[in-house]
Amino acid sequence: MGSTNSNLVEEHKSGHISWQSPANIALIKYWGKYPVQLPMNPSLSFVLNNSVVKISVDYTHSTGNEFRLASFTLNGQPNHVFASRISGYMQALIPFFPFLSHTILNINSHSSFPHSAGIASSAAAFSALALCICSMEQEVGGKDAGGKTTTEDNFFRKASYMARLGSGSACRSVYGGMVVWGKVRELPGSSDEVATTLDKGKVNPVFSTLRDAILIVDDGRKEVSSSAGHAMMQHHPYRATRIKQATANMRRILQALTEGNTEVFAEVVEEEALSLHSLMMSSSPGFILMRPNTLYLIDRIRNFREQSGLELCFTLDAGPNIHLLYFEKDQQQIGAFIRESLLTLCKQGRWIDDAMGDGPVRILEGR
Ligand code: DP6
Repeated sequence: MGSTNSNLVEEHKSGHISWQSPANIALIKYWGKYPVQLPMNPSLSFVLNNSVVKISVDYTHSTGNEFRLASFTLNGQPNHVFASRISGYMQALIPFFPFLSHTILNINSHSSFPHSAGIASSAAAFSALALCICSMEQEVGGKDAGGKTTTEDNFFRKASYMARLGSGSACRSVYGGMVVWGKVRELPGSSDEVATTLDKGKVNPVFSTLRDAILIVDDGRKEVSSSAGHAMMQHHPYRATRIKQATANMRRILQALTEGNTEVFAEVVEEEALSLHSLMMSSSPGFILMRPNTLYLIDRIRNFREQSGLELCFTLDAGPNIHLLYFEKDQQQIGAFIRESLLTLCKQGRWIDDAMGDGPVRILEGR
């Protein structure tokens, strides 16, 4: 039995890993899925710069251990609801990461935005978590952390795949800039299983300074979760039409992005936002996530665009809050417009000033 003990000692490893991942906002919406988290249609999003979640994992791996999430805190407080979701997620990952079955984890999650801000933090959180597990695999498995591009590519592809299993849109938060998820004929290498960055050559520099003002209309819990909404697409009367529409809109926006056509970009982005909410309203049972102030804000944004001639548009995710998209060159004028005309329609005048970001970063604390 002495040799078993020495194996135990040899295989004991512990460490600390931390990744910070951004939230993302979809321009072409993912709405409807197949098991397991495969999208009904392709989607396109960009990641944010300031709305981020940092996950830190302390792990102890030893052949004598059994998998256990020993603790989970959200912004410093234990959170049992998330703890059990994350524990279930980790257990589902064991076939991909066998070392997890002998690992004890303590996880801390911290978001830069309040949980009540109405921004889905799950995409950022599952992205950061998946990246932590992939880094842990390299440390525990003793694999080279890798400077080679191919190794790095595989690392992020694997993280994107794993993030997807936690929350579909999370697979897009593993990369920076504009990110596509789902097979698109025009984009070789695009896939339903992992997200891919939209090649910089395909995005006109005009779009590199995209900003997002998130106008908080309501920060309450959603009446219908995204998962329930996706499920309703299964037998939705407009399902086939939606797939066609999303595919066509993807083609249109890709062309607009390449050509630098901000007008078509705005047209497609707003069409997608309104289609998403129309699909919710025409589900069975129908549901409405917009609030009266969502509509007032849309009205004011459209009027301002017409009067000012500035390039701005709005999108919505599965909630009532408006994402006002514009370009850095107009920041001053749009900022004044937001303060003077929009904040009175926001809950307690709240908004988040954000912009397109570069994607996740590994945090090397105390090293
Ligand atoms: C409207 O990724 O949150 O934001 O896969 O069930 O976790 P699950 O859903 P989720 O859905 C996001 C829906 C959306 C559109 C989008 O982000 O593309």
